[in-house]
Amino acid sequence: MTNSSAPGKIILFGEHAVVYGRPELAVPVTQVRANVDISDSARTGMWIDAPDVNLHAELNTHPSDHPLAAVIHNFLFISRVSAFPNLGIKITSTIPVASGLGSGAAVTVALTRALASHLKYSITDEEVNSFTYEIEKLHHGTPSGIDNTVITYAKPVYFVKSLSSPERRGVGAEVETFKVGKPFTIVIGDTGISAPTKESVGDVRRLWLNDKSRWESVFDKIAEISFTARRAIEQGHWEMLGELMNENHQLLQKLTVSSPELDNLVSVACNSGALGAKMSGGGRGGNMIALVTPDRAEAVTSALKEAGARNTIVTQVS
Ligand code: PMV
Repeated sequence: MTNSSAPGKIILFGEHAVVYGRPELAVPVTQVRANVDISDSARTGMWIDAPDVNLHAELNTHPSDHPLAAVIHNFLFISRVSAFPNLGIKITSTIPVASGLGSGAAVTVALTRALASHLKYSITDEEVNSFTYEIEKLHHGTPSGIDNTVITYAKPVYFVKSLSSPERRGVGAEVETFKVGKPFTIVIGDTGISAPTKESVGDVRRLWLNDKSRWESVFDKIAEISFTARRAIEQGHWEMLGELMNENHQLLQKLTVSSPELDNLVSVACNSGALGAKMSGGGRGGNMIALVTPDRAEAVTSALKEAGARNTIVTQVS
């Protein structure tokens, strides 16, 4: 049997501003994982067993654009296997779906690596990363590329998207992994409200079109925060990192992408001992994050739950 697993991801700084060419920071969330086990099967075909999504079927009974089928078909294509092997493929994940934690990219990374290892096909991290990006494009149109990168390398990523295309959703990006000076702890709180990222991105775009110089200067402030935050993470300055989260949250409020529920969880976290907190990702719903010292993790988690967080995850970034 061959096994592979991949973490989730969370954006720490720079969401929305990243669309306008400013840096974004994201880190792996190792507390939740996608896991793939592959074994040779006595039955003919490739049998996918994904109990979390209630899927138990042979590969060719799926439409070819099904996310899991797309990964397998594309992998078999690039690896040029001569005969389709008989396999049992079990896929499980503890990463909440559709909540900005990169569950799709994590399944693709784990599945690709498990297939490669089981079929003895040698694949580099760079190849896993670009393969996963291609799969993300099939399902999400124009993803920034940060999910596949953070999840493939399981490292913090500093990401600047190219602005070469007129739509500012350019091809190519500056992507750097970087080191964490001292491990730090984050509590993730989910509002339980699902809000499409596309809408908040569209609203920010309308603001920007109406008054470019005003919003460009907000994006510049966020860029400065992301830049300073990277240094703070590399040097282990947690007090400073917490303050930067608070400042970034205020700027996201200005951009109208926070919500009463996110603001409430952010202030609850700060009032119960977090060093700082902010919304994370597209906003309007979804997740917030709080930076905590390990001894405050439990208190902040219970305060968030009491304040209505649907789900909480405590994760250490190292
Ligand atoms: O909702 P998430 O976690 O996928 O984050 C979206 C981040 C944005 O900056 C708002 C959009 C983007 O494409 O980068």
